[in-house]
Amino acid sequence: MHRGCLPSAINTNSTRTRRRNLRPCLCIYTLTTSAYNNHHPFVPIPTTVSDLRTMNCLALWPEPVVRVQHLSDSGISVIPERYVKKPSERPSISESIDKEINIPVIDLQNMNSSDESLRRKTADLISAACREWGFFQVVNHGVSHQLMAETREVWRQFFQLPLELKQVYANSPATYEGYGSRVGIGKDISLDWGDYFFLHYLPMSVKDQNKWPSLPVSCRELVENYGEEVVKLGGKLMKIFSLTLGLSENHLEQAFGGEIGACLRTNYYPKCPQPDLTLGISPHSDPGGMTLLLPDENVPGLQVRHDNKWITVKPVPNAFIINIGDQIQVLTNANYKSVEHRVMVNSSKERVSLALFYNPRGDVLIKPVEELVTEEKPALYSPMTFDEYRVYIRTKGLSGKSQVESLKSLK
Ligand code: OGA
Ligand code: NI
Repeated sequence: MHRGCLPSAINTNSTRTRRRNLRPCLCIYTLTTSAYNNHHPFVPIPTTVSDLRTMNCLALWPEPVVRVQHLSDSGISVIPERYVKKPSERPSISESIDKEINIPVIDLQNMNSSDESLRRKTADLISAACREWGFFQVVNHGVSHQLMAETREVWRQFFQLPLELKQVYANSPATYEGYGSRVGIGKDISLDWGDYFFLHYLPMSVKDQNKWPSLPVSCRELVENYGEEVVKLGGKLMKIFSLTLGLSENHLEQAFGGEIGACLRTNYYPKCPQPDLTLGISPHSDPGGMTLLLPDENVPGLQVRHDNKWITVKPVPNAFIINIGDQIQVLTNANYKSVEHRVMVNSSKERVSLALFYNPRGDVLIKPVEELVTEEKPALYSPMTFDEYRVYIRTKGLSGKSQVESLKSLK
């Protein structure tokens, strides 16, 4: 038995004493349910952020992790109950779906024009998209199309590797870094039909390439180059956002703490025998600053909530899908919206997407910027650091927009 997961006060019968002496364990991934329970007879489930700190038990998932890809490959025709959504949340019947409209598509090329009115027109389109949709696609964004395609392809190949090779990177809820299949540590939470790989790209102090896949051999180098280019695009957008809000060009970047965090989450949605009953990702808003998403070139799936309807995004070739996250919603005092979205799966094609999360430093207080707080629109949110904020999602899992709503100051 793994020594690290034994309570040190093993001889006492007091559960409380055992709990206090619990050591984090990192060895759960290949265990069956009964082996897991024997290993972890006293794992308490934290319910508050301070529980998490004092108990230091974020190193554990509450139950053995099942890879969705493994379920899909096993050839089942009925999906396990844990993946079945409530009827009101299922993709086919939940509210109305508008098939006609798409999120705005914006050509960034015009931002480099010498024609001031063309630049202003483009900036206005971005501003309107951030206010009304929280989502838009950008083309002519400056990131190499070849690099985009190669990076997406290398991740597709990573997920096609044998399970044992991927398990080496199995993640834990302490950092989420690595190969994962769930968000949230509640024991009976509903599960989504997708696996993912999550890694830290910035700041340098948390970046560790040894935690990125060593196979396929080109993976680390591609991720390195892809991260660099996409972060640059994120920086350009931050400047445009600042200017369109009437702030100085570097205002938002400075409010992010002058140094940003960036993480890459590659999503892998296997084929699903009953796609009408489940979702690849449940409705959520992204907790960070903004997200730059490279969708699958062939398979749609992302839906965005707009006027209480779900709009299926029709990806434009070689575009990025950009969306505002909760931290920019807070900073802009809700002028720019972090909008709920979800992912549908299908029975005929797997889907791969790369989400680069462009985030503030973890330790600076994020609150509405003074210039956007007025008598008519007082500060809507109480200050919180991003590190604290994201503990909630990591603990409770995805739950629409409830998290950013909970920051609303009681006035
Ligand atoms: C996400 C996300 C959408 C997609 O990773 O947060 O919303 O299309 N992904 O995979
Ligand atoms: Ni998202």
